[in-house]
Amino acid sequence: KYPSDNINFSIIAHVDHGKSTLADRLLELTGTIRKGHGQPQYLDKLQVERERGITVKAQTATMFHCHKFLGSDTDFLLNLIDTPGHVDFSYEVSRSLAACQGALLVVDAAQGVQAQTVANFYLAFESNLAIIPVINKIDQPTADPDRVKAQLKSMFDLDPSDALLTSAKTGQGLEQVLPSVIERIPPPPGKNTLPLRMLLLDSYYDEYKGVICHVAIVDGVLHKGDKICSAATGQSYEVSDVGIMHPELVATGILLTGQVGYIVSGMRSTKEARVGDTLHHTRTVIQPLPGFKPAKHMVFSGLYPADGSDFEALNHAIERLTCNDASVSVTKESSTALGLGFRCGFLGLLHMDVFHQRLEQEHGAHVISTVPTVPYIFEYSDGSKLQVQNPAALPSNPKNRLIACREPTVIATIIIPSEYVGSVITLCAERRGEQLEYSFIDSQRAFMKYRMPLREIVVDFYNELKSITSGYASFDYEDSEYQASDLVKLDILLNGQPVDAMATIVHKSKAPRVGRELVEKLKKFIDRQMFEIIIQAAIGSKVIARETLSAMRKNVLAKCYGGDVTRKRKLLEKQKEGKKRMKRVGSVDIPQEAFHELLKVS
Ligand code: GTP
Repeated sequence: KYPSDNINFSIIAHVDHGKSTLADRLLELTGTIRKGHGQPQYLDKLQVERERGITVKAQTATMFHCHKFLGSDTDFLLNLIDTPGHVDFSYEVSRSLAACQGALLVVDAAQGVQAQTVANFYLAFESNLAIIPVINKIDQPTADPDRVKAQLKSMFDLDPSDALLTSAKTGQGLEQVLPSVIERIPPPPGKNTLPLRMLLLDSYYDEYKGVICHVAIVDGVLHKGDKICSAATGQSYEVSDVGIMHPELVATGILLTGQVGYIVSGMRSTKEARVGDTLHHTRTVIQPLPGFKPAKHMVFSGLYPADGSDFEALNHAIERLTCNDASVSVTKESSTALGLGFRCGFLGLLHMDVFHQRLEQEHGAHVISTVPTVPYIFEYSDGSKLQVQNPAALPSNPKNRLIACREPTVIATIIIPSEYVGSVITLCAERRGEQLEYSFIDSQRAFMKYRMPLREIVVDFYNELKSITSGYASFDYEDSEYQASDLVKLDILLNGQPVDAMATIVHKSKAPRVGRELVEKLKKFIDRQMFEIIIQAAIGSKVIARETLSAMRKNVLAKCYGGDVTRKRKLLEKQKEGKKRMKRVGSVDIPQEAFHELLKVS
């Protein structure tokens, strides 16, 4: 029997507090996946997710659970929507929450409330979700659930007696979770009798089935064979397959109001599947659902084939990958140094890294990426405005006088043990932060809010924050307005030739240090060649840093004593392999690592 009672809920938490493990346990408990299936974090399907232990794409799984409800045994269909915990992916979180009526707010019993707990709580709260606090990892020796309860009360006004105490590791307390979900989270509000309205949550491309859309049925009923229409594009489709994620796709032929499932409808590319779109029956007129805020691109970087001839291969790989990650923006660009490539916009630095890794791992593409930049705005005396996503596009000697530069800022939330307050204040000041709030969440933890230029946090801020606080700081941010700033374009020149792909935009006060670090890094990573190489950093025509790399021939065979032929061949092969990842700029060969290392200079 296919239960009609269903509940849509999500698990939200700070990174590593145990969402994915808890999701696994719930799937096991309901027999959706076998216990000890040998693959932890079942919902983390992507290879990057497993390797990095993070959730990148929100996944959905449907479970069946029988529960005594109002005196009789009732079968419930529970849709669990897993959400990513990292700040870059909060866009995915808000998308997942749109299909839910409640959320489990998981907090580590030892670490307590962290920055993303705060951010996720507010996302859920603003969406009017029922929130069930779950204090997890109570098996840890340092667990202090009472302290966490007090934090939940003081920060979010959550009743401490509502909190569930669990260990997703030992299984302790897990039996209370699903009953609480059923009793405390309201059913979806829609009606089967109303005209069909479904919200398109996500989509991906499958080799065999084509585009698969994840949808939430807000009103009405969808059957296999129905003709549907997109409110955004007016395009019509016929539903050839419909079902639930259990967690693999299971065809049901029907989805009822409030259910979350998948549909296949002959869309040719995921570009047609606009996330946040409302789909409805072709014969009805409906009021479209509110949809989602579009993803905001915070970081831009150029992606170029490591081997110049591979442009088409990279193009194909990017097209395939963006089918599954529509939050990346892609436009073609060309660079004198690197040839034809792409300018891509990402939600953040981790998102960018994950995208690179997926390009290499899932699509075999070798890429060189340029220094990431945030979107700046430059205003000129003739009233023109230039939004710069690529520093190379900023004229070094503009026709009209520059009258203002603006840069995007964020509001950062930082939670730290009180003893680190001093060093964190120093770090934020170095990064041009402006303190907005400073308070204590209990006797041991401080809570701070800063307005910071986005540029200052995209490069290495989080790592540095972690390192000065022995790993105890937690950090989250939301984007805020643009502010006026004193920015300059920093060019890198090799033997007098500017390398467009290495240009960056920096705050004037930081230009001398960044320039020096960049040329030092490049000197380390460029191999000596048969001629001298002069490496310079310049603002306009003014050189602010310089290094010289003297001439030398690099002989890979020098290490081969005797006449070991196989070894010699291997080394030559290796050299060939290395060369593939070189870029020739003018007459200078630059290895891929050089580009990569530049990313770390802020
Ligand atoms: P993201 O997917 O990156 O957002 O992290 P997550 O919140 O899903 O955390 P995940 O489930 O990956 O768990 C993080 C780590 O905590 C893993 O090493 C888990 O094995 C461990 N863990 C999860 N639950 C418990 C628990 O109840 N007790 C203990 N001791 N460890 C746990």
